[in-house]
Amino acid sequence: MLLLLLLLGAATSRCLHDETQKSVSLLRPSFSQLPPNFRSSSLTLPGSLDPQPLRIQICYIGDPVSDGAWDPEGDGMRGRSRALAAVREAAQRLQGVLAVPPVRGPLLLSRDPAQYCHAVWGDPDTPNYRRCSLLNPGYKGESCLGAKIPDAHLHGYALWPEQGPPQLVQPDGPGVPNTDFLLYVRVAHTSKCHREATLHELLHALGFSGQLFKKWRDCPSGPSVRENCSTRQQVTRRDEWGQLLLTTPTVSHSLAKHLGVLGVSLGVPLEEEQGLLSSHWEARLLQGSVMTATFDGAQRTRLDPITLAAFEDSGWYQVNHSAAEELLWGQGSGLEFGLVSTCGTGSSDFFCTGSGPGCHYLHLDKGSCSSDPTLEGCRMFKPLANGVSRLENRA
Ligand SMILES: *[C@@H]1O[C@H](CO)[C@@H](O)[C@H](O)[C@H]1NC(C)=O
Ligand SMILES: *[C@@H]1O[C@H](CO)[C@@H](O)[C@H](O)[C@H]1NC(C)=O
Repeated sequence: MLLLLLLLGAATSRCLHDETQKSVSLLRPSFSQLPPNFRSSSLTLPGSLDPQPLRIQICYIGDPVSDGAWDPEGDGMRGRSRALAAVREAAQRLQGVLAVPPVRGPLLLSRDPAQYCHAVWGDPDTPNYRRCSLLNPGYKGESCLGAKIPDAHLHGYALWPEQGPPQLVQPDGPGVPNTDFLLYVRVAHTSKCHREATLHELLHALGFSGQLFKKWRDCPSGPSVRENCSTRQQVTRRDEWGQLLLTTPTVSHSLAKHLGVLGVSLGVPLEEEQGLLSSHWEARLLQGSVMTATFDGAQRTRLDPITLAAFEDSGWYQVNHSAAEELLWGQGSGLEFGLVSTCGTGSSDFFCTGSGPGCHYLHLDKGSCSSDPTLEGCRMFKPLANGVSRLENRA
């Protein structure tokens, strides 16, 4: 139901989301379009409360810089269709994981009145109180990271006289049919994000984001009954050492289960990077999860139970937990696992000391004992760049 822009590019492992989230705004479908169970209405249509697989519509919008550029090899074109295929594949995979009460009718996004309207009628006694009295002459439509959102996907807008009916400036667009989530994709050549990390970026857009945590909802009656949802009082907190934690109930339970300390109430540590809202799991604790900050190759990345628990706690989705992939890192390792104070003591086989050779914990790669900024001094056997995999060794 939200709208975000996803950019894809080639090369390294860093995440684009962190840089884009500051400048991205969210548009929603209008209130009247939400399924009846989103509203406090007693109207219930038979069957309409049941969540259905999330329908993500991918909308490609051109890159203003490279479009029309001379491209004799067609590399841009090939890169674009590869990138779009990767987005489609990720969206399809998530259909088996996330479900929502379907949006009724074509999805039509609201415009931001603060953008198109310069002033509103201010007298509470007039009939058009708070309606737009003066348009912003500079309004060029809604956009997202510099890309224009088609008017066809947007509600219209109007100018109101002090009394009487409005003068329509732009009528409602036809909207997008059979869609719960509209994903605008712009393909750009950057060194920021790997095509294989597509799923990671899509999960940010769907709610796993420092910008969105504060909008998570508490729906005690379950995901299909939305009328009693409220905004979550607390999603994150800091522990006594200053570590930021995601503290919602399903993630806490899921981490406790993973570490083998059921019954203990744990928050899940989040990675903090300077000046950014935190949108990743702490890598010391959840190495290998799709939602850690660094991408370590698709074959070493898992759509893990703790990440799915976070989607459950967002209050926006019904989650198919049997779609979770097993996370081996730290499994059954107890409460002390992954702390900066314990990782160097040799108490856990997942961490190493020194800089010698060894085996990556998934036993697919030879590694060398090393660290990176997300490990905060902890060391693990990281795959060698030209390491020979065990599978290849066997052949
Ligand atoms: C839930 O996930 C499992 C495992 O991926 C899959 O077999 C099943 O079809 C999914 N269920 C739904 C309703 O999508
Ligand atoms: C919502 O909450 C009210 C008051 O607590 C309760 O009476 C009602 O049954 C709840 N609705 C649903 C659908 O759970």
